[in-house]
Amino acid sequence: MSDLARGAAALYVHVPFCESKCSYCDFYSVPHDGSGRAKYVSALALEGARRRPRDFRPATTFVGGGTPTALSDADFAEMLRVVAELAGAPRDADPQRFEWSVECNPGSLTHAKAAMMRAAGVTRASIGVQSFDDRILRSVGRVHDAATARDAVRIARDAGIPQVSVDLLFAIPGQGMATFEADLDAAIALGTDHVSAYALLYEDGTVLERRLREGRVEPEEEDVELAMLRRAHERLGAAGFERYEISNFAKPGCACRHNINYWRNGEYLGIGASAASYLGGERRTNVASWRDYEDAVHRGHDPVASAERLAPDRAAGEEAMLRLRMREGMSLRDVSARWGIDAAELWRPVISRFTAAGLLAAHDGGDRVTLTARGLEVANGVMAEFVVPDQPASTRS
Ligand SMILES: C[S@@+](CC[C@H](N)C(=O)[O-])C[C@H]1O[C@@H](n2cnc3c(N)ncnc32)[C@H](O)[C@@H]1O
Ligand code: SF4
Repeated sequence: MSDLARGAAALYVHVPFCESKCSYCDFYSVPHDGSGRAKYVSALALEGARRRPRDFRPATTFVGGGTPTALSDADFAEMLRVVAELAGAPRDADPQRFEWSVECNPGSLTHAKAAMMRAAGVTRASIGVQSFDDRILRSVGRVHDAATARDAVRIARDAGIPQVSVDLLFAIPGQGMATFEADLDAAIALGTDHVSAYALLYEDGTVLERRLREGRVEPEEEDVELAMLRRAHERLGAAGFERYEISNFAKPGCACRHNINYWRNGEYLGIGASAASYLGGERRTNVASWRDYEDAVHRGHDPVASAERLAPDRAAGEEAMLRLRMREGMSLRDVSARWGIDAAELWRPVISRFTAAGLLAAHDGGDRVTLTARGLEVANGVMAEFVVPDQPASTRS
């Protein structure tokens, strides 16, 4: 069994700054010019040194945000140095042995930053393109235009970063099928190795959700949204991408192993403001405010905001929600062994109902369960039925 299959350690690092806030986004980030963030970066180093498990040797590392590339060149270089040291990142890494992703915004991915990433041992640039259409980019408050997004992919490639991924959004009001098809074709033509295609969500507290409540935007029809997801599957499939998760498509060997570990409910250490961790069976989240975070760490305090351990049947339900997102699905035997429950018995009614409805398929003598093509389209509704409502066994906050 591979390290990742066993859920070996992974590292997540959160950088909560963006040039400006996009109208749809509820990731924890604040608008910031990115300069003078040395105190935040040194807090990452301190927190990492204090919280790293003994013999910590993550198989994957993911620096996300926010927008890591929004940092100034000096802070970005120092952040890479801190993360490389914490992760024990080999320079010139083989992405199959050690994967290191950094999220980039096209507006701030410069040749200089791409060269720093390559030199530090980053193996994967994950670029938030969203669309290659200027009108659509403006409509959701992106700081870059389509030409800059194309350049960003070329900059990452030219720097020699082994794998380049782009994020695309679909079902943006006014986008329509033709524009989304052009977005997919552009991502393919640029030679990307991986595409994440996300249906636009109207998240509470965002500008977009307020506009929706005020009747100022009209969400895309549900059947058009579904047709777009199908088109992504067809177009990317024809170009040699395999759909390995609901929203994620990869050329052979280019699936994101960090996210696969997450969907397999593997453990990870998360550092930085608002970062979540899952270690030793405990889920915890750091304080969100970046100022509170860096102050707490520099004063020698643990920046934890909340932590909990779930009862076994509840934890198994969460694992089902995650694993069913992937094409490989879940093994009932593995989930039972991990949580000391009888998963086949616990979920027998749900599995029979959804199998009869053609939304779930059973394989390997009934041990492995996957969503069918139709099930993938209503995945949230199906997965939610695996969750066991319960109170956490213990909490502290
Ligand atoms: C933290 S952002 C990372 C990239 C970088 N900050 C950027 O935007 O260029 C991660 C990705 O989540 C996706 N995302 C954010 N908010 C979303 C929403 N409301 N609905 C669907 N996808 C969303 C976007 O595709 C975005 O690229
Ligand atoms: S989508 Fe990316 S750039 Fe936009 S606000 Fe969210 S994290 Fe920042």
